[in-house]
Amino acid sequence: MSPRTILVTGANRGIGYSILQALATRSPSDHFLLGARTTKNGNSAIEELRTLGLQAEIDVVELDVASESSIKAAEEYVRTKFGGLDVLVNNAGIAILEEADHSNLSKSYAETFNTNITGVALMMSTFLCLMKETSQDPRIINVSSARASLQLSSTGNLPPSRVISYSVSKTALNALTVEYAKAEPDARFYAASPGHCKTAFNGFKGTKDPLDGAKVVVELALAEKGKYANGFWQLEGDDKEASLVPW
Ligand SMILES: NC(=O)c1ccc[n+]([C@@H]2O[C@H](COP(=O)([O-])OP(=O)(O)OC[C@H]3O[C@@H](n4cnc5c(N)ncnc54)[C@H](OP(=O)(O)O)[C@@H]3O)[C@@H](O)[C@H]2O)c1
Repeated sequence: MSPRTILVTGANRGIGYSILQALATRSPSDHFLLGARTTKNGNSAIEELRTLGLQAEIDVVELDVASESSIKAAEEYVRTKFGGLDVLVNNAGIAILEEADHSNLSKSYAETFNTNITGVALMMSTFLCLMKETSQDPRIINVSSARASLQLSSTGNLPPSRVISYSVSKTALNALTVEYAKAEPDARFYAASPGHCKTAFNGFKGTKDPLDGAKVVVELALAEKGKYANGFWQLEGDDKEASLVPW
């Protein structure tokens, strides 16, 4: 198989960084595009990955998913500089703590949805054309959350959300994933639940190492063609294969 080109958004730190690290370790002949809001942060992340001994080809793509012009410029850059894209991992995401008096509710919903939903919709619609033109097996993996699952949330399996706008945005992300899967049969669309990982996102209070959280994305990105149908997936503990999360 010829080397794949794989882009991970928000990969300069946190789970995105771990996804890139784990992918490049497992499949060093592939070509990785490390999405970061600034080239400087992207290059620092690559330097750090090199100190870990990673030798895969890794390039920075400057990309702010909250900006349509940045997404369009990134697609143009990937198209002209690298010629194609096989796997897109929409990992970049935010949560904005809501004030007790709800004074920032409007800002919290607007900014969270702009990044977590509009940003992913723009990424998919902007990059899909290139992916379908250049890849035999285009895959889009949207980093979601167990919080997205209406089934888990409504059956007492999850405590109340600390940030409702965030949980609702991830449910909407799952809906977006389902809609694209229906509309675009020539590509695979996955939502992935990394689990509660220790990152800046939660003040490093998560229970999992981000490299463990990355496993589900690595599995969905590198599995042989056709192994996983469109769906919402997780990979827990020592499992070797991903399992479905209820929508
Ligand atoms: N941590 C968890 O327990 C957990 C659980 C379930 C799902 N998730 C999901 O996993 C993903 C990564 O979370 P994380 O824990 O790694 O968070 P994190 O440590 O806060 O890292 C977030 C990453 O996203 C980037 N980012 C934020 N806004 C962006 C934008 N507009 N454009 C491009 N990049 C942007 C950040 O870039 P900067 O460095 O420039 O800020 C950073 O690289 C998110 O989608 C999150 O919802 C996390």
